[in-house]
Amino acid sequence: MQELQKIKEAAEFIKARIPFIPDVAIILGSGLGILADEVEEKIEIPYSEIPHFPVSTVQGHAGKFIFGKLEDKNVLLMNGRFHFYEGYSMKEVTLPIRVFKMLGVKKLIVTNAAGGVNTNFKPGDLMIIKDHINFSMANPLIGRNIDEFGPRFPDMSNAYDKELVELAKKVAQKVEVPVVEGVYFMLTGPNYETPAEIRAIRKLGGDAVGMSTVPEVIVANHCGIKVLGISCITNMAAGILDQPLNHEEVIETSMKVREKFIRLVKGIVKEM
Ligand code: HPA
Repeated sequence: MQELQKIKEAAEFIKARIPFIPDVAIILGSGLGILADEVEEKIEIPYSEIPHFPVSTVQGHAGKFIFGKLEDKNVLLMNGRFHFYEGYSMKEVTLPIRVFKMLGVKKLIVTNAAGGVNTNFKPGDLMIIKDHINFSMANPLIGRNIDEFGPRFPDMSNAYDKELVELAKKVAQKVEVPVVEGVYFMLTGPNYETPAEIRAIRKLGGDAVGMSTVPEVIVANHCGIKVLGISCITNMAAGILDQPLNHEEVIETSMKVREKFIRLVKGIVKEM
């Protein structure tokens, strides 16, 4: 079946189950699924029920959409995303974004857990993403361009919408959640980086490193969805501290920051 047809069928399935067009979609990163508890009038749709949807497998990822109200806005939460390192193709990883577009979504908040590369950062910091470096050596837009979504050679000069970045910083002050700002650097994973890779990333301009987000942001920009990105710095990247990295630490830190994270995201959604 043609890609566009699959996307349309997935979107039709969802449309039939929700009473509204979401104002904003929010992709929840590792350990950040807790935001789902804040949503009212919830309608949950597991990915496994949606035609053509892959199913997420990683620990800490649930795998469902949650529609409902957050700060009186209609929101669509994506609890559990698809990662390239799980073996999904870039097209599968980004399928939900095009489904969002078909549903009428105009704004997207992407969140993730990331390692701190900038030595001024500390675990527990929330980083507003101002730009990214795609070092995955892959791209979800490779292949025939679907003109219905966007142009063959899309502009990426405002990949993280400047107005949304400003809004996020303003809200952060208002709700008294300190934030840092930086460039997100994507590698595929699944291994954490070597200390030499982290030194290279720092030289190349990365402030935080992670294994997600960039494919979704590329596809969102292609189809004209405005993006805001927030990284939870769950650990210092390899070689900065004299200790090995593990997934438990990542989940543990995201648990610790959840109250701040929720306050910030709710504040942003309210003002969007
Ligand atoms: N590296 C890559 N991805 C990550 C990290 C890291 O240190 N922490 C959380 N996600």
